[in-house]
Amino acid sequence: MVLDPTLDPGASSPLYLQLQRQLRGLIQQGEWRPGTRLPAVPELAGRWGVHRLTVLKALAGLKRTGWIQTVQGRGSFVAPRLPEAPGLRSSGEFPFEGSPLLVHEGELGSWIGETLERAQDQHLVSFSAGFIPSDLLPGEQLRRLTVQVMKDLGPEAWVYAAPSGHRPYLDAVSNWLASEGDPIDAGWGIRALPGAQAGLALALESLTVPGDRVLVESPCYLGILALIRALGREPVPVPVDRQGLDPERLASALQRSEAKLLFTVPSFHNPTGMTLSKGRRERVLALTRAQGVVLVADSAYGDLRFTGNSLPPFRRLPDADHVIHVGSFSKSLAAGLRLGYLIAKEDILRRLAPIQEVHTIALPTLTQEVVARFLDNGGFRRHLVRLRRALKERRDAMYGAVVEHFPPGTQVSEPKGGMHLWVVLPEGYSAMDLHRDALQHGLGFAPGPLFFADGRGTNCLRLNFSTHDPAVTRDAIARLGHLARRT
Ligand SMILES: Cc1ncc(COP(=O)(O)O)c(C=O)c1O
Repeated sequence: MVLDPTLDPGASSPLYLQLQRQLRGLIQQGEWRPGTRLPAVPELAGRWGVHRLTVLKALAGLKRTGWIQTVQGRGSFVAPRLPEAPGLRSSGEFPFEGSPLLVHEGELGSWIGETLERAQDQHLVSFSAGFIPSDLLPGEQLRRLTVQVMKDLGPEAWVYAAPSGHRPYLDAVSNWLASEGDPIDAGWGIRALPGAQAGLALALESLTVPGDRVLVESPCYLGILALIRALGREPVPVPVDRQGLDPERLASALQRSEAKLLFTVPSFHNPTGMTLSKGRRERVLALTRAQGVVLVADSAYGDLRFTGNSLPPFRRLPDADHVIHVGSFSKSLAAGLRLGYLIAKEDILRRLAPIQEVHTIALPTLTQEVVARFLDNGGFRRHLVRLRRALKERRDAMYGAVVEHFPPGTQVSEPKGGMHLWVVLPEGYSAMDLHRDALQHGLGFAPGPLFFADGRGTNCLRLNFSTHDPAVTRDAIARLGHLARRT
């Protein structure tokens, strides 16, 4: 409780931040009104049982974020006008990386499995994982196609498919991409994957060795970080801003890191939802090419644009020979199919093929044939129209609820596609503490530090907006906002 002057030395957030939140709570609840003079530092230290330096750090944070003002020789006063929730549109720089406070890796635990389990826990309203919920899946169409494919193929449905992929599947994906205006160019090839994650692992295993450095976005998809760590490579973070990966910071990271690969999610980035602009794509491509760094473009959310114009994928820009494009049907169709694809120049594919063969040998013929027919018969196109419309409605509901109910000073991204909102709470808030509190109230989300190679993002959270219908989302986000305001 805000008015209870006790701090928890065992909590993940430091004492000065806990104190800062409690002092801010007194202001928000009207206990200390605008213009009120705050008690002197020794008095505050005595009341909360902390060192004076802790009080001074807490006051400095409140001053920086506009809650109090100090007058030389007279002390600290509650600001005459309290900070308002600006939302993304009215703010200048969006602080994607959140506060510079760090969380230790050990505090985070194993997350991929946990987020998926939480997301499917019936007792939770969870916004923690990015997938299409069953009400938006074309389940009945997939069932009918599966039965038909089993009849048509007979025993052929159950034999090994070609290691590079079932031919009708590869052709159907190639035709789909061409119909979208992004054909596979001459000299390039395509291989089937059991999901995008397998493509990221394949690139990492085939093109780097343990100890190599790998550039990642900061924040970035947590499955990439987990993969890089599990395989003994070293992640080198490069900050993203409102237009995606920052080319200036990339240039300097390329200079000093001797990295072999760059992983990027250029469209509807996980976790921020942002999209790399065309100019930035060209610059990132040129910079990585000049340094001989392979660019792995993870397009897991690429089909999920619901507003604005589409942008060319890296592989379609001039001089993109060093690009590996990874696509997936997990986010656009059904994650349980475990189907994706990888597009690269033939010489790169030749380096990847032996590793893929030892890992997977081949993918199921049945599901590849089902997806091929769904693509060919126009079902996928019709499904995407419906899915994109639903995602936009869900994003609007969540975005509006965050702006309305989260603490003053919160910032939130407004993506044009994909499944995620990135929320940055005012400095001093702890997403880890909020997460613990939220779970006890039946609410789930993914706390920011999961998405950083270096434990940043302590005041950030990723909210997945695809999972629940707008009414459920609005209600749950209002409750989460209420919890955030009182932490
Ligand atoms: C950016 C990104 N890439 C890859 C994946 C993994 O996708 P798949 O299920 O296709 O392996 C995810 C899943 O969340 C993701 O967000």
